Amino acid sequence: MRSAKEVLEMKQKGEKVSVVTAYDAAFAAIAEAAGVDQILVGDSLANVLLGLKSTAEIGMTEMEIFTAAVRRGAPDTHVIADMPYLSDETPALAVKNAKRLVECGANSVKLEGAKLDVIRALHSEGIPVMGHLGLLPQTAKSFKQCGRTEEEAARIFEEARQLDELGIYAFVLEHIPGELGARISGAVKAVTIGIGAGGGTDGQVLVMHDLLRMHNRKLPPFATPQANLYEAAKLGFEKYVQAVKHPR
Ligand code: KIV
Repeated sequence: MRSAKEVLEMKQKGEKVSVVTAYDAAFAAIAEAAGVDQILVGDSLANVLLGLKSTAEIGMTEMEIFTAAVRRGAPDTHVIADMPYLSDETPALAVKNAKRLVECGANSVKLEGAKLDVIRALHSEGIPVMGHLGLLPQTAKSFKQCGRTEEEAARIFEEARQLDELGIYAFVLEHIPGELGARISGAVKAVTIGIGAGGGTDGQVLVMHDLLRMHNRKLPPFATPQANLYEAAKLGFEKYVQAVKHPR
C-alpha cells in the first residue's frame, strides 16, 4: 500500500496518480484489483448512495461506517476519508474526528478549503492531509466552474501555494479551468488531483458512479464513463422479473 509520502514521490518521478471514490467493500475490492493508486471515501456518498441533496447532510457516523467498509474490501490500497461538513470546524475537533477515521482504516483525510490551522494541527499529529480547492461542494452556492475571473483564479492559486507551504502531500482541484489546473500543478510540490481541472494535473479523481455510469442522470461535463453499469444492472433486473413471472 502506498503511503502519502510515496504518493508524493510519484509526482517527483513523473508518474500520474489514479484516484477513484468507493464506499463499500465490494467496489473497493474491485478498485484494488484494478490497481487504483488511492481510494477516496468521498462525502459524495451522501448524494450517490444515500440520495441526499447535499454532502453537508452527513456526519462522522456515516463516514466511519463507509471508511471501515472500504478498508475491509481494499486492505492493500491507500484509503482517503473525507472529513464531513463541520467535522473540521476547529483544529481540536478536526484532530479528534480525523483520528476516528484513521481508526477505521484511513491512511489520510481530505478536507475542503484552505483551513491552514486545521491542516497544521493534523500534520502535528502525524495525520496526512489531502486538501480540496476550487469548487467546494460542502459550502458551494452554485456548481458552476470556479476560477474563471482573474481575481478568483488568483485566490485559488494563492490558496494552493499556502497549502503547499504547509507540506501537504496532495490536494484536489475541482471544476476549474484547465489552464489554472496546469499552472498550479507546475508551481507546487504537492500532488494535484484534478476533477474537471483539465489534463495538466498530477492525477485525476472521479466519482465511481459517474466513472462506471451507475445512474441515468446527466453526467458532469468532465466525467467520461468507462463502463455502463446502469444498463447492465437494469437488464439483469429485467431478466430476473421475467424469470420470476414466467418460470420454465
Ligand atoms: O466527495 C467526493 O467524492 C469528492 C470528489 C468529488 C473529489 O470530494
